[in-house]
Amino acid sequence: MSHALGFLILQFAFSRADALYGHVLMRCQFSSHDGHDTVLLEQYYLNKMLMFQYNSTLGKLIGYTKEAIEYADFLNGIPSFVNKEKWKADICKRNVPLVYNSLLTPVEPSVRLRSVEAVGSKHPGMLVCSVYDFYPKQIWVTWLRNGKKVTSDVTSTDELPNGNWLYQMHSYLEFTPRPGEKITCMVEHASLMEPKLYDWEPMPESRMNKIAVGTAGLLLCLVFVVAGRIYYKIKSTVRVLVPTTEGLCPEHTL
Ligand SMILES: *[C@@H]1O[C@H](CO)[C@@H](O)[C@H](O)[C@H]1NC(C)=O
Repeated sequence: MSHALGFLILQFAFSRADALYGHVLMRCQFSSHDGHDTVLLEQYYLNKMLMFQYNSTLGKLIGYTKEAIEYADFLNGIPSFVNKEKWKADICKRNVPLVYNSLLTPVEPSVRLRSVEAVGSKHPGMLVCSVYDFYPKQIWVTWLRNGKKVTSDVTSTDELPNGNWLYQMHSYLEFTPRPGEKITCMVEHASLMEPKLYDWEPMPESRMNKIAVGTAGLLLCLVFVVAGRIYYKIKSTVRVLVPTTEGLCPEHTL
């Protein structure tokens, strides 16, 4: 894990088409909480071409063209320039704890547990525990069956960076549902005082029954509609026949 705080200083810019354009990229780079590995990197560009680079590990300015090399040698011999660079590198180092303590506070994830179709699996069911928008990266997502850790039929993605310092990850459990069993997705993270548990709620039986009754009712209704139609058809056919027979048959025969 490495962090870089970068900021841009526009040194000079003219609005003319043939203007020269210079910019400096300053980077404070570190990956440890105490800042012992902090590096200050300064890059000086002219018309997007890198002319100089100062790297605090190296402790001197480096030039990238013949003239720049000469000028860098000149600057590296001036104590005030060297001290100024050291001072900047020191600020960069001293602010590392501030970054870790204030800016990089843990961010609690949001969790979604859902069932998906298991494709090409020996199990009919698959649960996905999706954990979104957490920081820092370290996280533990595990599955419990009746409170006991499940180790087989589990696959997980890596912690995927969102690009905004937050991460997401997804864990999959292939399983065969058994009545009365409780499946839980457990999330452990620096943002949580204790592990958070998310129980899988299979469709309750009462709801299953309601759906069954509803479906049966719908089918029955359909049968009545079809039967009614047939009855109506037959009846109207008979009605059509009636006038013809009326003419043929004497009234009392009907
Ligand atoms: C700074 O210089 C050191 C030593 O040469 C090098 O290992 C490191 O990669 C440089 N850092 C950057 C960001 O270029």
